[in-house]
Amino acid sequence: MTDQVPRDTRAWFADWANEYDTTLGKVRRHHAMLDLVVSRSGVRDGDRVLDIGCGTGLLSLKFLERADCGITAIDSSEKMLGIFREKIEQCHLSDRIHLEERSAEDMAFPSHYFDIVASTVALHHVKEKDPVIQKVYDILKDGGRFVLGDMDLDTTGDLEDPRRIERILQFLQKELALAMEDGGIPAFERMYDNGKKHILNEGEYCIGFDQWIQLCKDAGFLQVEVTPLKDLSGLKCWWRGGRVRMVPRWRSSKGISGLGFSPGSQKT
Ligand SMILES: C[S@@+](CC[C@H](N)C(=O)[O-])C[C@H]1O[C@@H](n2cnc3c(N)ncnc32)[C@H](O)[C@@H]1O
Repeated sequence: MTDQVPRDTRAWFADWANEYDTTLGKVRRHHAMLDLVVSRSGVRDGDRVLDIGCGTGLLSLKFLERADCGITAIDSSEKMLGIFREKIEQCHLSDRIHLEERSAEDMAFPSHYFDIVASTVALHHVKEKDPVIQKVYDILKDGGRFVLGDMDLDTTGDLEDPRRIERILQFLQKELALAMEDGGIPAFERMYDNGKKHILNEGEYCIGFDQWIQLCKDAGFLQVEVTPLKDLSGLKCWWRGGRVRMVPRWRSSKGISGLGFSPGSQKT
């Protein structure tokens, strides 16, 4: 079921799983993004929610703190799911969360099934994004919402283009500082290694939010909102981040909220 995910990517996350919650899981901005995703989703009691690339379950658990909803959580890493499964058992949440080892490229869910599809820092690992976004649109109910939290970082282009490398390094500079501040050396080291993968496009295929918006519009989403997550003086001030509100011409009742974070973002 996870054949479309490169072996290297799975090995990378298998290796990271045990340390995930004590590295990226310690970074306050990561939690700020997760909280914002949940809040922008407008989740309500009884909603059916899909978490794509759930990892150790940080996002899913925040959904459950907010509403009495039902979660389906998928991930291509058995190891990540193993950590999440332990949490589910410890918290007696097995009637609320259904886990599947499954890749984003292989979502065999019925059409019009979910009220909310959410994903945080997972879909940039998918190389061919169009079919995945089209599938997300298909499995959402009319009026449903796709909420994406990811980096507003365009790593496309010629690997050896110095401007591309500069662009990525500029982004990483802030990321690494935040990782060190909140998660210490272990978090810094993980994010540093991640950075190299971004530069070499090894299982990391980030695109900017302009590109995400286009993908979502092409898939048929009607209402697209992007809320940049600014730096962390912002934990209480997320909403100060400007918002780009777009209503494409065609009609559809489905919407997407995108939450991008980019230290140098000028969006207002
Ligand atoms: C950085 S973690 C994010 C985990 C969680 N969403 C969070 O925000 O804390 C990325 C997760 O995406 C998963 N992943 C990577 N590529 C995937 C794919 N093609 N399909 C499903 N999951 C994938 C990894 O196994 C990993 O658990």
